[in-house]
Amino acid sequence: MATIVLGVQWGDEGKGKLCDILSSEVQICARATGGRNCGHTVVTNGVSYDFHMLPSGLLHPETTNLIGPGVVLHVPTFFSELADVEAKGVVNPQPRLKVSTRCALNLDLHTAADRLREGQLGSKNIGTTGRGIGPSYSSKAERSNVLLGDLLDDEEFGDRIRAMERDYKLRFGGDLGGYDVEKEIKELEAYRERIRPFSVDDIEFLEEAQNEGKKIMIEGAQSALLDNTYGTWPYVTSTSTTFGGVMAGLNLNRRKVDTVIGVLKAYCTRVGSGPFPTEDFGEIGNKLQEIGHEFGVSTGRRRRCGWLDLVSAQYSHKVNHYDALNLTKLDVLDTFEEIRVAVAYEHPDTGETIKGFPASAKLLSRVQVVYKTFKGWNTKTTSTAKYEDLPVEAREYIEFIEDFLGVKIVWVGCGPKRDDILVR
Ligand code: GDP
Ligand code: IMO
Ligand code: MG
Repeated sequence: MATIVLGVQWGDEGKGKLCDILSSEVQICARATGGRNCGHTVVTNGVSYDFHMLPSGLLHPETTNLIGPGVVLHVPTFFSELADVEAKGVVNPQPRLKVSTRCALNLDLHTAADRLREGQLGSKNIGTTGRGIGPSYSSKAERSNVLLGDLLDDEEFGDRIRAMERDYKLRFGGDLGGYDVEKEIKELEAYRERIRPFSVDDIEFLEEAQNEGKKIMIEGAQSALLDNTYGTWPYVTSTSTTFGGVMAGLNLNRRKVDTVIGVLKAYCTRVGSGPFPTEDFGEIGNKLQEIGHEFGVSTGRRRRCGWLDLVSAQYSHKVNHYDALNLTKLDVLDTFEEIRVAVAYEHPDTGETIKGFPASAKLLSRVQVVYKTFKGWNTKTTSTAKYEDLPVEAREYIEFIEDFLGVKIVWVGCGPKRDDILVR
């Protein structure tokens, strides 16, 4: 059976932590989408692990980890991250790590193109992670990219990279910021025999695993509102981050997918550009940012912060149909006198309540937000072990979110460490 863990809004944190917790109950932890733009931090036994390219299930000695074909693979990061987890004492990760030969590559060439494109957009840039994710997926869509299988089995794979480089040079006026195509091709050739033992035909691998009744968990990347179709377009990533994206990016038997879990932060944050109706530019936003240590894991940028937005969370639920939620970082709200949540948007020109979630980033950036205000609990909730031990105001807050969305909150994050999570 398969469990899928997905972010609800723009990068809700705790996917890695929940996957780390759940991976002791599964045999396979897989990634289906995204690339090294992810930043999944897991703090366990006093050690902090940052995963960008590899699945966080590696932390469990019994779990096999698969990078699925929907992921764009940066080969050097695959090895540098593997070396990092080995240096931190993770048990025997190499035989437990598999990567699909169908993964398209994320090249340094794509990184150069990502940065040049962001520069061209100037003040209207997307605020990408600068890791070349957009160009990798676009060159896959336009059929010019290279797959891991090409690196392994096509001696002429470098010609495709040279052709991509020529296209980018035409587009960006000759200079790709010092990028050296022959150097990258040589480096990839040197990785060929090193990555071969990790490579699998994902269809055969998952078919066998599912036939044997193995439990699989899928670690989502990014969050629903960064989805290339359903997100706050164009301020999105370049792939599908929602349920449909997982099914396209991994060969799961649909009959064996039993649970979709949404990870939702108790307030809202966003890195990069784009509309954010509840963003607070004053004291509240700063306080959330400081207490929550809101810096992006991938880029170190300050996260924009504001109150929880149940309008966008409800929209996300209509896209992903969550079976259960993990509310994270509740403890960050411990010292607020009042806590607000967005419950409706009104049209900026007519004042009418907007039904659904606007497609236009322009309209979304102008909506008037209607809030419901809660009394804060003003009590430390860090490391609370039982739901009943949470302050009554915190439980009221949690139960309001549940009722509004119509989804049970099964896990509540009350602190950064692995054990700081309570299960209801
Ligand atoms: P992911 O991308 O969803 O895996 O999450 P990130 O790695 O971007 O963010 C996780 C960060 O949030 C880590 O530093 C965690 O320790 C921290 N974190 C996760 N859950 C909680 C929580 O419930 N409370 C607090 N205070 N921090 C948390
Ligand atoms: P995890 O998996 C938060 C954001 C970037 C930018 C937009 C497009 O840890 O939740 P990209 O480099 O993907 O082309 O950037 O998406 N973004 C994330 N925000 N968490 C992430 O990963 C993100 N991955 C990309 O900030 O706004
Ligand atoms: Mg993250």
